[in-house]
Amino acid sequence: MASTFETVGVVGLGTMGAGIAEVFARAGLTVIGVEADSGALERGRGHLEASTDRALARGRLTGDQKAEILSRVTFTTSLEDLAEADLVIEAIPEVMDFKRALFTDLDRVCKPSVVLATNTSSLSVTAIAATTTRPGRVVGMHFFNPAPVMKLVEVVRTVTTDEGLADEVADLARRLGKTPVVVGDRAGFVANRLLLPYLNQAAVMLENGVAGRDDIDAAMRLGVGLPMGPFALLDLIGLDTSYEICEVLFRETRDRRHAPAPILRELVTAGLLGRKSGQGFHCAEEPESPSPDEKPSASSVGVLGEGAEEFGARLSGAGFKLVDADDAELVIALSRTPVVELAVRLPHPGRLVGLHLVGDRVAEVASTVLTSPEVASVAHGLMRILGLTAVPCKDRAEFVVDALLYPYLNDAVRMYESGYASIEDVDTAMRLGCGYPEGPFEMLDRLGLETVRDGLRALYAEYRDPCFAPAPLLDQLVTAGVPSIRDLSS
Ligand code: CAA
Repeated sequence: MASTFETVGVVGLGTMGAGIAEVFARAGLTVIGVEADSGALERGRGHLEASTDRALARGRLTGDQKAEILSRVTFTTSLEDLAEADLVIEAIPEVMDFKRALFTDLDRVCKPSVVLATNTSSLSVTAIAATTTRPGRVVGMHFFNPAPVMKLVEVVRTVTTDEGLADEVADLARRLGKTPVVVGDRAGFVANRLLLPYLNQAAVMLENGVAGRDDIDAAMRLGVGLPMGPFALLDLIGLDTSYEICEVLFRETRDRRHAPAPILRELVTAGLLGRKSGQGFHCAEEPESPSPDEKPSASSVGVLGEGAEEFGARLSGAGFKLVDADDAELVIALSRTPVVELAVRLPHPGRLVGLHLVGDRVAEVASTVLTSPEVASVAHGLMRILGLTAVPCKDRAEFVVDALLYPYLNDAVRMYESGYASIEDVDTAMRLGCGYPEGPFEMLDRLGLETVRDGLRALYAEYRDPCFAPAPLLDQLVTAGVPSIRDLSS
């Protein structure tokens, strides 16, 4: 018989649990919030008040609506109060032993027809289900931060989940105004499996000094249209949670790109967890970073590389004098791959920078080991005059944006190739779970499979890390001249 969901228990009222409780209460369900002690309970109540206050202040809720939502939520420290709940969702810290202990208790307390759900972001739902006497009634119900805003819910069914139960939970997610994607039990499911390796790689890039924190954030926001840069997002998710997800991914895959960046471990150990502790990669009260010292612009500029004519015309239009590269004070080499080879052929190698335009707002400006700091700052000033945001970076394969984007797209192809998720589900997950303007397969179609394949080959050639090798399917599609991966599924 189909389940009816009217009373829902939420265990753990941290950022995610409180957000989930709000989502259920907004949809008209009765919510029982459970925390370990009265202090934690009060903090949970505070999260809920703050979030609904925010909606009230923005005119998204009336005072009456806010009161009605809050009146649907009761708070308790006793699990026994969940005896009559139709669904219990767990949102406690990502520690398997805690989860298993809780599910053993829920198994004892809850009625036979209850659905037990975990909001785990990466731990095995199957292992959690196995601690109960009714693994058929256990699913994953994974929300995204901030839960009241992000539209995706990943519904995770295990090999033991009862037939039809995941679909019932997916229907419930629709009732909450969310879009469900039903997937199997793999570390990171769809969204985290694609998101966290990218975030982790950004941390490695920062640690290796390829580019700075704010520059990487700006490049991904303004160049790709993501709602947040990787470091702002790591701070939102929580560095401890991010670290844990990477650990779990690494344990399952042994892929070096999943091994948490050392800087994450250091920040977590220091208690700098992101927004929840007030400081992570960013600090709550941090002033805007000062603009770098920029020299007056160059009196003569040389432009090399593909698109040199067009970019040269743009510079002339802005009043710059174009001269031969051998004589220029500043040489701009349009490229998406390292430019030091071009520099060494010039009489003044220190005057050359690499330039890669990302979209119509971002200019990655790559300094080689020979580029003089003065020349680099002249190049930044020039980009500003052209109305572009300069992203200074080292002269490394694919610079910043493509180096972060292409492995993510490759992961999406691998995920599809393995049969884990459909093209539509992967695209939906990234758009609705992480606010991406387009899903990875939409992005692949726009960028072109060959461009991405070649970029991955360049990354592989530079770092010799197998994780950058193009997915076999991507390679084959390019070789066969198939323009879109969608052409396969039609
Ligand atoms: N709680 C409740 N509501 C919030 C909120 C919060 N913490 N933060 C923002 N909002 C609401 C605002 O009230 C606003 O709603 P209204 O338009 O109805 O007023 C809306 O969200 C947009 O807010 P803002 O205009 O203030 O902010 P924004 O436009 O900068 O958007 C954002 C904020 C929605 C967080 C956006 O930056 C975004 O989509 N970021 C990406 C977030 C993301 O990737 N989340 C997934 C992380 S991974 C994860 O969670 C899974 C895991 O297991 C780790």
